Amino acid sequence: MSRIPDETVQQVLAATDIVVLISRYVKLKKSGANWSGLCPFHTEKSPSFSVSQSRNSYHCFGCGAGGTAIGFVMEQEGLSFPEAVRKLAEAAGIVIQEEVWDANTEREAKERSLLKRVHEEMAQFLHALLLKHAVAAPARDYLKSRGITSTVAKNWLLGYAPEQDIYMRQWAAEHKYSEAVMVRAGIFGETDNGRKYPRFRNRLMIPLRNETSECIGFSGRALAPGEKAKYVNSPETPIFTKGRMLFGFDKSKKAIGKEGYAIVLEGQLDLVTAYEAGVHNVCASQGTAFTEDHVRMLKRHAQEVVLCFDADSAGFKAAERSYQILAPAGFTVKVATLPKGEDPDSLIKSQGADVFRSFIAKAADFLDFQITHKQATMGNNLSQQVSLIEKIAVDIAMNPSVSARELMIRSHAAQLGVGEDAFRKQVAVFIKRQQRAAEEQRKNPLVKQVGSTHEPAPMTRADAAKQLLAAQEKPALWLAGMALTKAEVLEWLREQDMLPLLNALRGTTLLERVWRSSFDAEDEAARSTFFATLAPEEETAFTQLLARTRFAGGIPEAEDALKNLDIVRLQRAVQQATAKLKTPGLAHEEVDRINIERLALNQELLTRTRPTPIVPQKSP
Ligand code: CTP
Ligand code: MN
Repeated sequence: MSRIPDETVQQVLAATDIVVLISRYVKLKKSGANWSGLCPFHTEKSPSFSVSQSRNSYHCFGCGAGGTAIGFVMEQEGLSFPEAVRKLAEAAGIVIQEEVWDANTEREAKERSLLKRVHEEMAQFLHALLLKHAVAAPARDYLKSRGITSTVAKNWLLGYAPEQDIYMRQWAAEHKYSEAVMVRAGIFGETDNGRKYPRFRNRLMIPLRNETSECIGFSGRALAPGEKAKYVNSPETPIFTKGRMLFGFDKSKKAIGKEGYAIVLEGQLDLVTAYEAGVHNVCASQGTAFTEDHVRMLKRHAQEVVLCFDADSAGFKAAERSYQILAPAGFTVKVATLPKGEDPDSLIKSQGADVFRSFIAKAADFLDFQITHKQATMGNNLSQQVSLIEKIAVDIAMNPSVSARELMIRSHAAQLGVGEDAFRKQVAVFIKRQQRAAEEQRKNPLVKQVGSTHEPAPMTRADAAKQLLAAQEKPALWLAGMALTKAEVLEWLREQDMLPLLNALRGTTLLERVWRSSFDAEDEAARSTFFATLAPEEETAFTQLLARTRFAGGIPEAEDALKNLDIVRLQRAVQQATAKLKTPGLAHEEVDRINIERLALNQELLTRTRPTPIVPQKSP
C-alpha cells in the first residue's frame, strides 16, 4: 500500500479552504465566526451543520458528523482516505508522489526533518552566544541601542553569528553535522571551488519559523551600519521558501482571527517591536509583496488586511501588488500610512503603541489610497485621468463580491470625476474580460496563469493573435514594443497626444492599449497584470510581439517611430482618397474635392523627410 506522508496531508489541509469546499455541496450562511447550513449527512429542516474556517473543520450538532476537509470529501463522495487526499491535492495543485516513489518521499521527509533539527539546535546555540558569550558583546550593545531587551531576545530566540568561522564550524563538528548538511540547510554557503563557509557573519540572527513554529531559516541583520547587505536571509532550501512564510504568523494567527484582521508589516524587527508592545495581530512579509501562499495562510483566520509598508515608492508598489493578490481572494484591503521616515519599529519606540494603533485605525481603504497617491503625482491631462479611472475600474473588477463592487463604484465615481453609470459600465467591461480570460483558462489550463509565465497558447488563440499583429501598422507596433521594453519610453508615450493618430488609423489598437495603460513602468509584474486584463488574443499578441522582436532604443527612436506613424496616417489618407475616386457615378464636384484633398495630402507627405524604413530586428 502506498503511504501519503503526513507532511503532504498537512500541506493539503493547509491549502484547502474548507468553507469554499463545503459550499460546493451545502448552502452555507455566515453565523457569527462560523458558517452554518443544512447537514448533508442527515435529513433536517433547521441548520445544525457548522463549518469553522479558523479550525479548518466541520461539525454537525444533529448527527455528530465532523472532521477535516479530507473527512468531508470521504463521507460526501464515498472515497477512501488516500483517494480523498489525492482529490483535494489535485484541486490545490499539490503533487503527491506515486507509490513507486515512496522510498524517495520518505527520504525527502527525513532530509527535511534533519534540516529542521539543525536549524532549531543552531538557533539555540546562537541564542546562548548572544546572551552570554564574550564574542557577542557588540551584538548586545546593538540590542541595547535598538531598545531590544533580553526578555525580547528570549521570546524570539534571537541569536548572534560571530564574525569568525570557528564557532559555527566547531559546533557543527561537535554535533556531527557534516559541512555538506550545513550547506543543504543553507546555514553554510559554498564557493565555486567547493569551500564551505558560514553564511552569516557578525549578524544578529532572527530565526524564521513556519506556521507550526518550526525553525526553517534565518534572517541575519548586520550590526555595522556600513555593511553591504543590511539583511542576509537563508537561501531557498527544501524547508524554506521566502514567498511561503509569514514572519510571526505562528505566534499571531490566533490574535489575527480574534481581531478579524491582520496588520501586515515589512520587517521582522517591526513585527517583534509591535508584538512585544501588545499589538498581536501582526505578520511580516519580509520586504516582499504578498503571494498566493500567504493569502491561503491568512484566509483561514481573517478577511481583512491592513498593509503598513514604508511610505516610499517601493512600499507603494508592494501595496499595489499585494492588493492584486488579496482582492481576488475576497479580502478587504486597507493601507496605513505612517509619518514620513518612520517605520512601525521606530514609531512605536519613539511614540508608543497607542500612537501606532491610531495610525492603523486611520488606515485608508486601498482604492482611496491608490487614487490619492496617483492624483498627487499625475498631471492634469485627459489621458492620465482616463488611465486612472480605468486602473481603478480594473482594481474594482478584481473583487469577487457584487455588493462590494457596487459599494466601491458608488464611493469612488465622484472622486474620479466620472458619472456612476459610466463607471459601472467600465467596471463591467473589465469583469467581462476577466471572465473571458478565466473561461479561456478553464478550457485550456496551460494557456496562462495570471501574473506568472506564459505557456504556449493553443492554435486558435495564437492565430487570432497573429492576425491581430498583422493588422497593426508597423510603426505602431514598434512604438508599443519599445514602450513595453523601456520604462522611460512608456512614460514618454503616455504623455503624447495620441488621440488624433489613434482615431485616424485602424491598425493601432495594440498601441492604444499601451498608451492608455497606467501600470508601473518599472515593474515587470505589473506589466504581466496589465496583459492579463486584456482580451486573450491581445495578450497573446503582446507576448508574441515581445518574443519575436528585440526592441531597442530610447526616446529619440520612439520619436522617430511616432513621426513615421504620422506619415503612415498621411499615406493611408492618400490611399483612401484614391480608392474613393474609383467609386462609380461620382459627381464632378466630388471628384474635384477629393483631388484637391489628395494633392494637399501628397504635398504634406513631401514636406516630411522620407522615413527611414523600419525593419524590426529578428532576435537571434
Ligand atoms: N530586507 C531584506 N534584505 C535587505 C533589505 C531588506 O530581506 N537587504 C527585508 C527585510 O525583511 C526587512 C524588510 O525588507 O525587514 C524591510 O526593509 P527595511 O525597511 O530596509 O528594513 P527595516 O525592517 O526597517 O530594518 P531595520 O529596522 O533593521 O533597519
Ligand atoms: Mn526599521
